[in-house]
Amino acid sequence: MSEYNSVKFRCPSNIALVKYWGKKTGGVQLPANPSISWTLSDLHATTTVTRSKMTGLSSSAISLEFFLAGESKPSFEPKIRQFLERIAPFMPQIKEFHWKIESENNFPHGTGIASSAAGFGALALCFADFQRADLAAEQSWSEEEFLQIASKYARLGSGSACRSVYGQPGIWGETNAWAEATDEFAVPFTAHVHESLKYWADAVLIVDDGEKSVSSTQGHDLLKDHPYAASRYQQAQVNLERLLEMMKVGDLNGFISLVESEALQLHAMMMSSEPYYLLIRPNTIAIIERIWNKRKETQWPMAFTLDAGANVHLLYDKSYSEPVMNFIETELLPYCKNSLYLCSDIGGSPQKI
Ligand code: PMV
Repeated sequence: MSEYNSVKFRCPSNIALVKYWGKKTGGVQLPANPSISWTLSDLHATTTVTRSKMTGLSSSAISLEFFLAGESKPSFEPKIRQFLERIAPFMPQIKEFHWKIESENNFPHGTGIASSAAGFGALALCFADFQRADLAAEQSWSEEEFLQIASKYARLGSGSACRSVYGQPGIWGETNAWAEATDEFAVPFTAHVHESLKYWADAVLIVDDGEKSVSSTQGHDLLKDHPYAASRYQQAQVNLERLLEMMKVGDLNGFISLVESEALQLHAMMMSSEPYYLLIRPNTIAIIERIWNKRKETQWPMAFTLDAGANVHLLYDKSYSEPVMNFIETELLPYCKNSLYLCSDIGGSPQKI
């Protein structure tokens, strides 16, 4: 065992273009359909994991403490304990240590943006890094193997987090459209992306910063008996295949309508679940309509997308930053809670710090 006792990683959040919504039956956190996302380099979590060897009788319980932005947060520990229990079969040393986990996000907590993707991404990278160090004398992992292991661990914490470990778009879930894709971990989309889709940014318009009425875990579960689940999974397969092609050739109009359709399909599945529910709010719709009108008027390359929440992600070509920012400030801000929106470039890899 090495003397390696503390590790720190920064990991970006991500926003899906084709959405993961629904899990396979059997296995742990395996997606029912493939998805692809862009990382958000400026919205990230930074996590330090420090371990200390446990003395005395070894126990089967996992020992941990968790701090968010310097404050002890025991309420987060069950989810992290579950994550550690899930990776323990691959990393038996988990049970030999006490784990102190200190995490912070560079965006406000409770803005409804996917902090779990960045958080579990950073955490998984730390644990994979400990394992890499411990095994160094016996085996060496390539960078690709390391990222695949980190991605698999991230998946076991929060499915969508597995796509956050790559600077290139992350594809997760079996699909004929990308031979390397698997349900176990995300892989990078390494094909040449057309120049017109390489340099984009995301403005996350905060409509609602409260706790979601239905969590993603519950939402995924409702797909089990959902009357439209099979056709949604089929549609996501088709959409992923089409999107990859559009990204390669730079079919901007196709890209924009597919991304927006995916966002609406995600929410349509929520609205047609049993019990049905709604996460979008009147201001979500007002923003979407403003975006549609503006695009019709100007032809700017921009598209909205949604996560499992009310906030709107406005994706746009960075060379249009100035007019898009002006549009946000003058026309969209009135619909944002406390006039809040968060900006990030697309892309960006995790970093060991
Ligand atoms: O990773 P989870 O279990 O929180 O699922 C969230 C899935 C979506 O964010 C709604 C879509 C996606 O693919 O990221």
